[in-house]
Amino acid sequence: MIKVIFVCLGNICRSPSAEGIFKKIVKNSGLKDDIYIDSAGTSAYHVGEKADKRMREFASKRGYSLTSISRKLKYRDFSDFDYIIAMDNSNYIDILSFDVSGIYKSKVKMMTDFSKEFFSEDIPDPYYGGDDGFNRVIDMLEECCTGFLEFLKQNKEV
Ligand code: 4NP
Repeated sequence: MIKVIFVCLGNICRSPSAEGIFKKIVKNSGLKDDIYIDSAGTSAYHVGEKADKRMREFASKRGYSLTSISRKLKYRDFSDFDYIIAMDNSNYIDILSFDVSGIYKSKVKMMTDFSKEFFSEDIPDPYYGGDDGFNRVIDMLEECCTGFLEFLKQNKEV
């Protein structure tokens, strides 16, 4: 089984959405039992909280249920997961800084690494912005998560 963890700053907006969207795409492809999917934050700001209410509402309108409870990324996650996927460049730098030995660097990727549309771009943090930001997150994550599943299939990992 392939294990994937999506990571953002608070684990209440972008990474819970990536988790919910990827879970649905994987389920629809009949690969539910082949891929374990989780999410976490680089900060502990919102530990124990459900995903942001606005994010849950926008996701729900688009057919996604966000069920995660915020948790902070822990060192054990580096060995437990095969892919550690950052939502933006600052998350990427923070994740690498937890891995002091550097031995897990090859597991750490950017979400847009798997996109055919967005190159080296961040998934923008919607927390302090308006409604458009939440829909933009969902649009980008749908495209990136679709690309990620294609990547796993092409690499014969699933
Ligand atoms: P996320 O969004 O990293 O996509 O979960 C944020 C949520 C909370 C904060 C920042 C970003 N915050 O500063 O509390």
